[in-house]
Amino acid sequence: MAIRPILTAPDPRLKVVSRPVETVDDDLRRLMRDMLDTMYAAPGVGLAAIQVGEPLRVIVIDVSDDDEKQDPLYLVNPEILSASEEMRVYEEGCLSLPEQFAEVERPARVHVRYLDYDGAERELHAEGLLATCIQHEMDHLEGILFVDHLSALKRKMILRRLLKARKSGQKAEKNPERRRHIA
Ligand code: NI
Repeated sequence: MAIRPILTAPDPRLKVVSRPVETVDDDLRRLMRDMLDTMYAAPGVGLAAIQVGEPLRVIVIDVSDDDEKQDPLYLVNPEILSASEEMRVYEEGCLSLPEQFAEVERPARVHVRYLDYDGAERELHAEGLLATCIQHEMDHLEGILFVDHLSALKRKMILRRLLKARKSGQKAEKNPERRRHIA
């Protein structure tokens, strides 16, 4: 198990479309455990493989409360089978856009098919934070960041702020209070 460095915007690898996993094997499970360690350490509630530089259709999620036991979810080759017409607005952040937050509107519920940690096919009906998080992570598999859902003006503002912080050598702080907004 290992914590891996997380890519941050505007790293061009974050724009890559990730490729499907062919076999869920021990190498992939090692990657998934590393991703989970990296996500918990950040801390955040979700992470896509491309955020640690692996262009594979793999995401890990844990939306449990701090005081609950860990409840990790591994989704390999996830597909959205259907999404609700009802929308939900949530203030999102991203481990690849440190300390930047904005409200994003997405379908409130999604029905997802995926392969689990053992490679078994599963389906899931998600709502609330889990639904939001799954969609945020699945966007990463297409090379899409949450800022791509915002107006060009807002997006530019956030990216400019990010570059400025990087140039001044400012280190991103861990933000446990906002953990449930970062994915
Ligand atoms: Ni993200």
